[in-house]
Amino acid sequence: MSGAGEWLASEKAFYVTTPIYYVNDAPHIGHAYTTTAGDFLTRWHRQRGEKVWYLTGVDEHGTKVQRAADAGGVTPQQWVDRLVEQSWLPVLETVDAANDDFIRTTQSRHVERVQKFWEKVRDNGFVYSDAYEGPYCVGCEEFKFPGDLIEGTGEFEGQMVCPVHGKPAEELREDNWFFKLSAFGDRLIEHYEAHPNAVRPQSAYNEVMAFLRKGLVDISMSRSSVDWGIPLTWDPEQVVYVWFDALLNYATAVGYGSEPGTDEAARYATTWPADVHLVGKDILRFHAVYWPAMLLAADQPMPKQVFAHGWLLVGGEKMSKSKLTGIAPEQIIDHFGSDAFRYYFMRAISFGQDGSFSWEDMTARYTSELANGLGNLASRATAMVGKYRDGVLPEAGPLTAAEDAVVERLAAASVAADRAMDELDFATAIGEVRSVVELVNQYVTEVEPWVLAKDEANAQRLDTVLYTMCEALRGVAVLYNPLMPKAMSSLWQHLGAHEALGELGAQRVSEAGRWGQLPAGAHVTKGYALFPRLPDDAPES
Ligand code: ME8
Ligand code: MG
Repeated sequence: MSGAGEWLASEKAFYVTTPIYYVNDAPHIGHAYTTTAGDFLTRWHRQRGEKVWYLTGVDEHGTKVQRAADAGGVTPQQWVDRLVEQSWLPVLETVDAANDDFIRTTQSRHVERVQKFWEKVRDNGFVYSDAYEGPYCVGCEEFKFPGDLIEGTGEFEGQMVCPVHGKPAEELREDNWFFKLSAFGDRLIEHYEAHPNAVRPQSAYNEVMAFLRKGLVDISMSRSSVDWGIPLTWDPEQVVYVWFDALLNYATAVGYGSEPGTDEAARYATTWPADVHLVGKDILRFHAVYWPAMLLAADQPMPKQVFAHGWLLVGGEKMSKSKLTGIAPEQIIDHFGSDAFRYYFMRAISFGQDGSFSWEDMTARYTSELANGLGNLASRATAMVGKYRDGVLPEAGPLTAAEDAVVERLAAASVAADRAMDELDFATAIGEVRSVVELVNQYVTEVEPWVLAKDEANAQRLDTVLYTMCEALRGVAVLYNPLMPKAMSSLWQHLGAHEALGELGAQRVSEAGRWGQLPAGAHVTKGYALFPRLPDDAPES
């Protein structure tokens, strides 16, 4: 965490969020997927030298959590306390997330600021009391509109069901407080027409615009038949509708509504608006329609971008806690390690598209791209400097066309990867770095350093080859560090780069492609395999 002093400086932080996940059950790889994406993105920006704030957390209120607690025979507070402690905090370590903060919606900082926010919106004239009647999906915690539901099948034949959860929505009838959402449709359309990057990818943008153009209707902002939530200050018999509590986490966590002059107020001023809200496409409407409308109603700036990624599928359907189709992240990470988990999901699924996980595909990529690709190059380079030069990195002689190609590929890859990261095109960024590894592996096969080593007359040529391998790996370590911090920090050590160049995390990605940074004389040591052979314990698939 950064010290308060730094935050008093006026520089705006690059602020990234994940959804806050429901604590009705333990996390699965769908949650870990969003958290990993945010972590990759924010580590990259930190290595650009930017001030960064990365927030994740949990959504603890609402009917869904309340019912899970009831079924578990404990109070909702006991339920969420236990799950957060035993599952949601540990999974951050499991995936190696370097988040700056973790918000829980039961924390008093959140509760107080949510109350303050809705008082402000009410004072501004956008809250009124009315009766709600219509369908509600507890899985989504969402009031459904006529076009939202689909014909049920199987046991729900003849009923209208939620397309995500596959179950009939419940019929609700209650008096509660409404938010004047309809007042903001035109302003949102105007905003998105002027800022086409504010909702990404394009398919998500189109979906939001179509929804807005149909016209917005007002929506309940409180619930009178729910207890587990934040009481309204002006009507304590009711609680804030769980989404209108949860969305506010992005602002409350960075200090919305704190006393002017405090560090927390300074943090809000230098953090809000968020640069990227990462969400799954299941919750796009909340983030790209309701949330910005809430902010407009409270005279606050809107987020700069909402990026809706695709779903991890199981049997063609969204992996889900409610349907118990989730794979626990540790099931995969115990086998492959956190770096490989991060690599696989960011590389194998184009961010914004749906994808599936399979043990076969992950095993194949692990073996070819990580163990045989990068891992093998690293062990060859460090072993050869050990064997032929006593572990001291030699100075390169004149470069030939073969080395020039490596130098140029690294330079081009670092520029292209940086550009791709701006687009949240993680697979392309990774592909660029991977192309360096592939080229150098091919180079080594062609120049055959082990043959050069047999004749003293080739000593300088061998020096050049060894230097080229290690210096290319230096660049790769910098560019892959945001994705695979554990393996790259080990590689960095073994290249002797830590001693020569300082901490890996302090190396700028924008400088990674500049050739010739690893100095001759660096102490290169052979390490254990960066990506070891996989244990023989893959579950039946
Ligand atoms: O919606 N594939 O929480 P949630 C990819 N509390 N990502 C997935 C996924 C899958 N199969 N399943 C879940 C909520 N996710 C609310 C959010 S935010 C103010 C409140 C990820 O526990 C993805 O990011 O249902 C998705 O949007 C989120 O988890 C939903 O988590
Ligand atoms: Mg959900």
